Amino acid sequence: MDTRKLTKPSHGLNGELQVPGDKSISHRAVMFGSVAEGETRIHNFLMGEDCLSTIACFKRLGVKIDIQGDEVLVEGKGWDSLTEPSEVLDTGNSGTTTRLMMGLLAGRPFHSVMLGDESIAKRPMKRVTDPLKLFGTKIDGREEGNFTPLSIRGGNLKAMRYTLPVASAQVKSAILLAGLQAEGVTEVIEPERTRDHTEKMIIEFGGEIDREGDTIKLRGGQQLKGTSVYVPGDISSAAFFMTAAAIVPGSRVMLKNTGLNETRTGIIEVMQRMGAKMEITEKTGAGERIGDILVEFSELQGTEIGGELIPALIDEIPVIALLATQAQGTTIIKDAEELKVKETNRIDAVVNELKKLGADIEATEDGMIIKGKKSLQGAEVDSWGDHRIGMTLAVASLITESPVFLGNSEAINISYPDFFDHLGKLTD
Ligand code: S3P
Repeated sequence: MDTRKLTKPSHGLNGELQVPGDKSISHRAVMFGSVAEGETRIHNFLMGEDCLSTIACFKRLGVKIDIQGDEVLVEGKGWDSLTEPSEVLDTGNSGTTTRLMMGLLAGRPFHSVMLGDESIAKRPMKRVTDPLKLFGTKIDGREEGNFTPLSIRGGNLKAMRYTLPVASAQVKSAILLAGLQAEGVTEVIEPERTRDHTEKMIIEFGGEIDREGDTIKLRGGQQLKGTSVYVPGDISSAAFFMTAAAIVPGSRVMLKNTGLNETRTGIIEVMQRMGAKMEITEKTGAGERIGDILVEFSELQGTEIGGELIPALIDEIPVIALLATQAQGTTIIKDAEELKVKETNRIDAVVNELKKLGADIEATEDGMIIKGKKSLQGAEVDSWGDHRIGMTLAVASLITESPVFLGNSEAINISYPDFFDHLGKLTD
């Protein structure tokens, strides 16, 4: 449990940076590569703890996976090559590993057990076990299938039609992974648009999937083909430096080759609305949208964030709350109850820790209200074991007069092991 002393730099952040690969895309590339036929080479893979948990689980299922620098080579031999694991599948801190693997294993004709860390043990799983039971799989867990450890005996799935009760890409993806193995056509209805990396990747791996309005349709029994995947920089990681550049006077930062999938760019929309000076240069290429994001120090205005924008920026809300402390006027974040079931209760964590630094921030039932602009001061704070809370507080330390002491700073390794090195490069 590391406590880090973080001090304000003597000048703004300047320079270029390529943030590490997208977490959601890295997980999915290993999963699809493992069940596809033929080799999959993943470039710019995120070597964070969560994605390494996914690799470790698929190795336990018998897949040969090699890490070569920042590339991952997966030797896919088709769905049927996965074998019953003799050990528990350890999903660590990763909700994406746990939930997407549940869907994938629901179609495999063997028994498996999944267990993660203390944070995973508190996160709701019924949202996935319930729809998977409708496919006909045998799946159970603590408290009627709501919590880990989870046990699955999969196989013989029958396609079904399901309306998502929560806007969750993890639940949608688990259903699609099961649907790929089911007999018949599976339909998923999404009340609000969530990240669509699974749908895009099914196509990249040679599969077929259609979308009509809010309904996604997928035929079962599809064999996928191994491919080469380039993982764009993670906009959720870039968000910390976008915020840092906007709030530290004298900053100008260019974030190269960042993912710009429109189901993920809510933070850009919000920052532009708040008055941030930004320039986006999109590049052409195959697969996911990608481009460079330039951000400069800016005078910011408060705003209101809610509704269908929430899924497009759900992971960025902690750092947006920090941004709002530096904006004139009031920022209201609503319709974001999902924050309570992330790696921590992110409403409580953000409000508690930013208050210690002197922010005017109050929790509401479904979000928070922040009044700016407030000058922040140093204090002892804690990541709550949550990577995004840790990085939010580290960015806050760039504008506090006295040092910030960040407890449990090692949580940042979950999604961004080079975070402090990269920050150092921009502040040197
Ligand atoms: C993710 C989906 C989101 C997000 C998480 C990653 C994914 O979760 O918060 O960090 O890769 O599908 P929900 O689907 O639970 O909203």
